[in-house]
Amino acid sequence: MVIIMNKILSGSEITSFLPEKYSSMPLFCYELTDSTNRVAKDFSAKTPLPFLVVADSQTAGRGRLGRSFYSPASSGIYMSLTVGGFDALSDAVFVTSAAAVAVTDAIIKLVDKTPQIKWVNDVYLDGKKVCGILVESVPTDAGFAAVVGIGVNMTTADFPEDISDIAGSVKTDVPREKMIAEITANLLEICKNPDDKSFLEKYKSRSMLLGREITYKEGDTVSLATAIDIDYSGGLVIRDSSGNVRTLSSGDVTVRLK
Ligand code: BTN
Repeated sequence: MVIIMNKILSGSEITSFLPEKYSSMPLFCYELTDSTNRVAKDFSAKTPLPFLVVADSQTAGRGRLGRSFYSPASSGIYMSLTVGGFDALSDAVFVTSAAAVAVTDAIIKLVDKTPQIKWVNDVYLDGKKVCGILVESVPTDAGFAAVVGIGVNMTTADFPEDISDIAGSVKTDVPREKMIAEITANLLEICKNPDDKSFLEKYKSRSMLLGREITYKEGDTVSLATAIDIDYSGGLVIRDSSGNVRTLSSGDVTVRLK
C-alpha cells in the first residue's frame, strides 16, 4: 500500500469529488488554521448554509469537554460542515449521531474496513479511536445552525504520549479530498430529512457499547451500568446497577467500556 504523505489539501479536488448538487456549496480550504470549528462559527452569520471549512492542519483543534484534538499536517481530515434548520441543542445529539454514521459509511465504502461507533461521537477501528466529532450550535437569522466538526486520523503515524494508547489511524491511501467529499455528501443527505431517523439503525448496528457493561461519569460521579439501546433522539439508554432504566444524553457524560 502506498501512503501519500505531505500533499497539501486541495479545495478544488474536494469539489470535484462532491455530487453535482452539492458542488456549488461554499468551501473554505486552509493550509493552516487554529480550528475549523472556530472559523465556521465566525463565518456562519454571513455565509449561505450549508458550507464547509477544511484545513490541512490545525494549531488549536477543539475536542469535546474542553479537550484538544491533535491535528498534524497532511495526515488527517479536519473539517467543519455547517448546516442549518435546527431548533437548538436538542438537535446536537441528532447531528452528532448522523455525523458518526456519515463517517462510518464513508470508511466502509472507500476503505472497506469495519469501524465501530462509541456513543456518542467517537469512531473506532481495530480498537483505536480514529475519528472524533464535535458539534457546536450557533444562532443565525433563521434559527440555529450546527457546526459539525469532524477530525479523522487518516495516515497519522505518531501520536503524543497522552493519547498514544487510544488514538489510531484509518491507515489508507484514499485521498483525503475524496473522504471529505464522501462524508460531506453522506451527512447532507441525512440532514435533508431531519424527521427520518432510520440512519439510527446503522448507528446501533455499529455501536461498540450496546449490550456491554460500561462506566459513565457525570460530574465527579462514576457509575456502573449496562448499555441497552440508543433512543430516537440519539440518547444512550442504560440499565443502572439498581435495575433502573434511564437515558443519558451526551451533555457532560463520558462513557467507558468496563
Ligand atoms: C473529540 O474527539 O472530542 C472531538 C474532536 C473534533 C475534532 C474536529 S477537527 C475539525 C473540527 N475543528 C475543531 O477544532 N474540532 C473539530
